[in-house]
Amino acid sequence: MEFVKIGLLSDFPEGKMRKVEVKGKELLVVNINGEIYSIDNICTHEECPLSDGFLQDEVVTCPCHLAQFNVKTGKKVANPATGEDIEDEQTFKVKVENSEVFVEV
Ligand code: FES
Repeated sequence: MEFVKIGLLSDFPEGKMRKVEVKGKELLVVNINGEIYSIDNICTHEECPLSDGFLQDEVVTCPCHLAQFNVKTGKKVANPATGEDIEDEQTFKVKVENSEVFVEV
């Protein structure tokens, strides 16, 4: 595991989410009130990209079957509309140094 630079702080505006590819992994990177968080971008249900969904406060909703995850903790907030019980998302450590953003992968 190592910290990899994914961009500048200004690339991640507050209240927005963005997909970033690092070492073959797709991460979802989100700025919540000035703090940057990252979870796996691939839904644990049927692998839809969470970055195509929508963000409300700290909860992302998957575009495919509306499962919800907390972007700070990766914890599932709601199961998909199809009713299966799904796993939480993996989280990734983020650090910001000199306005540069790094994730640990
Ligand atoms: S793929 Fe995300 S809820 Fe089904």
